Amino acid sequence: MVKDLAQPALFSSPPPYGQSLFFSLRTELSGEKALEHLSSGFDPATGILGIGEPLVRKFSKQVPGLRTFPALSGPGFSVPSTQKSLWAFLYGSDRSEVFNRSDHLISSLAPAFLLEDSMETFTYAGGKDLTGYEDGTENPPPRESPSVALVSEGKGMAGSSFAGVQRWVHDLEHFRSLPPKTQDHIIGREKSSNEEIPDAPASAHVKRSAQESFSPAATMVRRSMPWSRGGQQGLEFVSFGRSLDPFDRILRRMVGLEDGISDALFTFSQPVSGGYYWCPPVRENRIDLSGLEG
Ligand code: HEM
Repeated sequence: MVKDLAQPALFSSPPPYGQSLFFSLRTELSGEKALEHLSSGFDPATGILGIGEPLVRKFSKQVPGLRTFPALSGPGFSVPSTQKSLWAFLYGSDRSEVFNRSDHLISSLAPAFLLEDSMETFTYAGGKDLTGYEDGTENPPPRESPSVALVSEGKGMAGSSFAGVQRWVHDLEHFRSLPPKTQDHIIGREKSSNEEIPDAPASAHVKRSAQESFSPAATMVRRSMPWSRGGQQGLEFVSFGRSLDPFDRILRRMVGLEDGISDALFTFSQPVSGGYYWCPPVRENRIDLSGLEG
């Protein structure tokens, strides 16, 4: 089964704590050396690892379907690209475990990769965004998740996945100052019941992102986690797909590039990072990088 080839954390139950880490490559090092550090330094039991196009460009091979995250802009807001060589999303049952795992990863990768950015994340109120809305309701059921998230065939490709990762910063004070009905119309669901609001405005987030309204359906598995640091807070948005196209098409519609209507999310939240990553399969408890080797 293709699921057996995937990084197991892709389908594990959502962890209480996480940490999202972004690395650049020490470019003086050969690609092969970097891969050695990667393969020995990362333990798939600790979380998810994704490779960005800058790292793939160190090799003569290509990962079909992997590209660099595009910077976009909409009316009054920007959607930046902060594409890095490497991303890891580590999980843990408490902060100590996350600390130990990230500490170990950072030092094991240090000869080849430089930590550029990291963010601790947590599960809020049983799986809600910090606005108080349930996040993940329209995720595919577990039995369908592998076919949505995983590449089904190809040497070194079967069992891999493509991730869209974006950090959003919320202006919660502004959001909370809005009447409950206005809040519900921004999301397109009723906060108290989690019911979808059929006559929500076209700018409502779930209208913009309705997976079945795309042709073909733009399905993805979302595993976002909230974050809060130094008086700021928001969502570390993370989604997985067998290709990057569903994320790309939904984001473009959210920005307003399809029909001029931008997502009401932008009225209280802004993306400050954006990257695309290929999450390789695993073999014998190590990430399988044969897709990158010559
Ligand atoms: C501030 C950032 C975001 C927040 C707070 C947020 C929150 C939510 C919430 C509360 C829902 C409704 C419940 C659910 O089905 O999960 C939802 C649905 C969804 N979101 Fe987001 N989201 C954000 C960004 C994004 C981005 C960047 C994408 C993809 C490019 C996205 C894709 C989706 C999809 C596909 C759905 C399900 C739509 C459907 O088929 O009904 N979201 N989001």
